[in-house]
Amino acid sequence: MSTATPIPVRSPLPGALSGATAVLVGGSSGIGLAAAVLLRSVGARVVLVGRDPDRLEAAVAQVRSSGPAGDPDDAVLGVAGDGGDEQTLADAFDRAGQVDHVYVTAGGISGAGPLTALSADDIRTTLGSGPLRTVFAAARAAATRLPAGGSLTFSSGILVVRPYPGMTVPLAAGGAVETLTRALAVELAPARVRVNTVRYGRIDTPLLRSLPGLDSDDAVAAAGASVPLGRFGTAEEAAATAVFLMANNNVTGQVITVDGGETLV
Ligand SMILES: NC(=O)c1ccc[n+]([C@@H]2O[C@H](COP(=O)([O-])OP(=O)(O)OC[C@H]3O[C@@H](n4cnc5c(N)ncnc54)[C@H](OP(=O)(O)O)[C@@H]3O)[C@@H](O)[C@H]2O)c1
Repeated sequence: MSTATPIPVRSPLPGALSGATAVLVGGSSGIGLAAAVLLRSVGARVVLVGRDPDRLEAAVAQVRSSGPAGDPDDAVLGVAGDGGDEQTLADAFDRAGQVDHVYVTAGGISGAGPLTALSADDIRTTLGSGPLRTVFAAARAAATRLPAGGSLTFSSGILVVRPYPGMTVPLAAGGAVETLTRALAVELAPARVRVNTVRYGRIDTPLLRSLPGLDSDDAVAAAGASVPLGRFGTAEEAAATAVFLMANNNVTGQVITVDGGETLV
């Protein structure tokens, strides 16, 4: 894996991603879907991975329709399956042919509850089958396939540093993603592959709107007023940070927060 050649110097602006290919694990909704649209807008090819085939098909159609007319069909691909399943990721890499960047936004909230109300099995299941399983599967798929200058970007949330009760297990998993980011960054640096994480505050996505009391524009605006900058983030704002991390060949092992200032107060 070691190479004496330094990581390539190229423009760190998103336009440098033109012609690159990104696998978006969780690309059928929310932040991952927004990343797909942004990446297509700068000329990158995208491969979306998600479990629900209907949701995935709709997302592929949405990304295609946002791109230039006459886009080749393979500019936007969908691979249905669980991102924690190594075979699904192998299929996604094979369909892509060549992959430069991987962004994992697959996840959600699972395993919440007071520790004393959780069984040992609940804990094992959350740690073994939740977002951690997906980031490890993505890391294992990417580690041997990404070229020099390639990147892996993961997702975490600000509750990792501002926890509240009843979240021990999901936040232990989220914290592990951030630690994995640094550990993997040094391990993959000899291959000139970078690893980073975007840590989100509350971002207005279908996941956020599935939470109790947040199912309307008015409710989201009212709840967002408590954020220092006065609103929740948009999926595009969150995704743009991942696009920055893909493009910038001098950033690795970092966790970048996009939260409208939520962690400051
Ligand atoms: N939105 C927020 O406020 C916020 C805050 C902090 C952290 N986050 C984290 O940011 C990430 C993205 O959140 P989001 O708001 O964009 O969520 P979202 O709108 O629910 O999108 C998540 C996407 O991931 C896919 N997915 C989930 N599990 C998967 C799996 N095992 N394999 C493949 N695809 C999977 C979902 O599709 P299928 O269900 O069809 O597979 C969906 O396309 C999540 O990890 C979330 O926990 C979000």
